[in-house]
Amino acid sequence: MEQRPTILSGIQPSGRLTIGHYTGALRNWVALQSTHECFFMVADLHAITVPQDPEELRQRTLETAALFLACGVDPNQSTLFVQSHIPEHLQLTWVLACLTGMGECSRMTQFKEKSAQHRHNVNVGLFAYPILMAADILLYQADLVPVGADQKQHLELTRNLAERFNNRYGQVFRIPEPYIPPIGAKIMSLQEPTKKMSKSDPNENAVLFLTDSADAIRRKIRRAITDSGREIRYDEKQRPGISNLMVLYHVATGKSIPEIEQEFAGAGYADLKAALAEALIEFLRPIREEYERLQNAKDYLLSVLAQGAEKARSRAQQTLQLVYDRVGFLPPAVPEAVGLTTSRES
Ligand code: TRP
Repeated sequence: MEQRPTILSGIQPSGRLTIGHYTGALRNWVALQSTHECFFMVADLHAITVPQDPEELRQRTLETAALFLACGVDPNQSTLFVQSHIPEHLQLTWVLACLTGMGECSRMTQFKEKSAQHRHNVNVGLFAYPILMAADILLYQADLVPVGADQKQHLELTRNLAERFNNRYGQVFRIPEPYIPPIGAKIMSLQEPTKKMSKSDPNENAVLFLTDSADAIRRKIRRAITDSGREIRYDEKQRPGISNLMVLYHVATGKSIPEIEQEFAGAGYADLKAALAEALIEFLRPIREEYERLQNAKDYLLSVLAQGAEKARSRAQQTLQLVYDRVGFLPPAVPEAVGLTTSRES
């Protein structure tokens, strides 16, 4: 029964989760958890590669975990944890860092983009970010890693590092594969529909958060940018704005794109927007309600994370011990075994 393939994935608590996180990650996680052994983490160590307000980071970490649960991640099936609770992630990062070329990290597209964005804070952590991600994945011997297109290069590096370690020190790591979800709906910005919707977009109207109120949803959909023309027809290239709204309608209602085109044949953009806002409100309602319930059950949330950390850590420790042994680190002796007594006894 424990032969199920292992999955590991994570989301950074660097902003509020959007409907894009739901379609791109969370709904796939939920679908995988009954057939796979799943580890899902809040990647707080990754978040501090760009400046974070400490109180806000703590708050967002808990909020992100609550949204995992509200979207249907089941702590009885999956292991849900906070990355910084497992020190082995950092310990393995160091070992892997010593196997990584400077050039490998500086070639990463995300590093190039983020270091251009944060020109005054190009820190070593930002540079080493993909090595930490490799450690996240390899510690749990993950077979499959659900990631978005922007993270595939990091997964490629992970595979290279795993192979390099195995070649040098003998077989330790399983080589992970990317998991490409069968149904991928990419959600674009509501204000610039040729750009991916991003939780850190400074324009709030561009982003639908999973916790948005009904009023906020109505306002954002009403103000969403559409294209010239007036027909409701899917055409990602020529009509990115209306096509994005149709994808959202598909996500919220489960209707196919041809069904949506038929439903709105002869209708105008305003009709689609009105129907979409109401559909999104209904679709997100159970998530928001469960999230609000969890906001008042902080102890429960913390206990889920404590249990998750315990499970994750025992797996992580096994891998790290093997790594330390292969690398040639001298294991610390047990004090009694070498004739030392504890200070309390002496
Ligand atoms: N870097 C990922 C992102 O920003 C988050 C992440 C951290 C992750 N560690 C991971 C994803 C390990 C998959 C596996 O999206």
